Amino acid sequence: MTHSGLWIPDEHLNANLAGLSTSATIAIQQHCRELAEEGKQVFRLGLGQSPFPVPDLVVKALQENAHQKDYLPVKGLPELRHVLVEHHRKVFGIECGVEDIIVGPGSKELMFILQLVYDGEIIIPMPAWVSYLPQARIVGRPVNTIITTFEHNWKITPDQLESICRLDPRRARLLILNYPSNPTGQTYSKDELEELTLICRKYKMLVLSDEIYAKTTYDQSHESLVTIYPEGTIFSGGLSKWCGAGGWRFGLFVVPSSATWLSDAMATVASETYTSTSAPIQYAAISAFTPHQDLDTYTDRCRDILHVLAKTIMEMLGVLEINVRAPRGGFYVFPDFEPYRERLARAGIFTSKEFCTRLLADTGVAVLPGSDFGRPEIELTTRIAFVDFNGSEALQNYPENGTVDRAFVGGHCSKTIEAVRRIVDWICSF
Ligand SMILES: Cc1ncc(COP(=O)(O)O)c(C=O)c1O
Repeated sequence: MTHSGLWIPDEHLNANLAGLSTSATIAIQQHCRELAEEGKQVFRLGLGQSPFPVPDLVVKALQENAHQKDYLPVKGLPELRHVLVEHHRKVFGIECGVEDIIVGPGSKELMFILQLVYDGEIIIPMPAWVSYLPQARIVGRPVNTIITTFEHNWKITPDQLESICRLDPRRARLLILNYPSNPTGQTYSKDELEELTLICRKYKMLVLSDEIYAKTTYDQSHESLVTIYPEGTIFSGGLSKWCGAGGWRFGLFVVPSSATWLSDAMATVASETYTSTSAPIQYAAISAFTPHQDLDTYTDRCRDILHVLAKTIMEMLGVLEINVRAPRGGFYVFPDFEPYRERLARAGIFTSKEFCTRLLADTGVAVLPGSDFGRPEIELTTRIAFVDFNGSEALQNYPENGTVDRAFVGGHCSKTIEAVRRIVDWICSF
């Protein structure tokens, strides 16, 4: 393209954006789309998008509310926020009021404006979901990371948390905790949360508890941190994962009543930027959070399928000598191929990025490198999102006897199974 007139040098880019590019998960999906357009067979285990359809009754509610056209209150439709209060009390035991709820166009946006309005250090356990760190960078917040290990199931320990707080005990801090975790699939037990709470309480730490995968916890043992540390926890959830509605862009926070100043400040930013969350989506969300047998059945079935698929993938990966923990919820598994380092190095693969690039070129399987989740470049960790299958078809064929088994996922999640088989064969070829 030829330009005439004004020349705008890129030195005018906000320095906080330097080195940042499109979010890794979005970029891999775009790359897969291009490969598919070239006629290549692609297995999309990169972007963490729910394979399941939005439940029928929620779709119907959206259709019926397509005419809703008004700007709505910044924090959300009061009727919806009432429903959310009841829902979170019933499902997670969270005691809150309407004034504690703020909804937004995706929890990602709410997290961004939280980091903008909160003037403190952000603490991020690594590996972590791809957007926390870039968001902190964009708004110019100082970040302290906590490196978790395979040996500790990729979870932070109270000692690790305290060692950061001890350095400057009075500093304002926001810990971002995510469980079940994207990318590791691990989750925290009640005991573990109680231990972490002792430290949080001691140092008056604010916690953003990203529990967006809570309802996918395979054994339904999810405990919300809000019930253990109510005074310091902001709960984050939405429709993207359990309800398959990522593209609808709907998220919510439950903010402790002592921190209404925070949600008020968030609402100020919202009012000056996106104004309010899409009206039809908010009306539809009422039906997604109102008790209904169909929704329970949908959630149970999605969870069952994911659980058996996760177990099947673990069995398949079990033929390799790798470090990998069985997921406890969500749709991710986070293997470390370190034991294959020498063999991979002989083939010119030294980093997780090189690993993923070669895997995609050789097998058509797209996964994301551990380095995208904050792990060291040279570590051979990858995130596999086991979501490339037709979730509608799987739900339609859900066994009448209610027992999902290996044969079921072999038949109805076959593309994902084939992708994992290709990964295993590819590793064995070195
Ligand atoms: C851990 C985690 N938190 C938050 C989000 C953002 O979800 P949304 O903005 O769609 O609510 C995602 C989406 O991938 C995620 O994996």
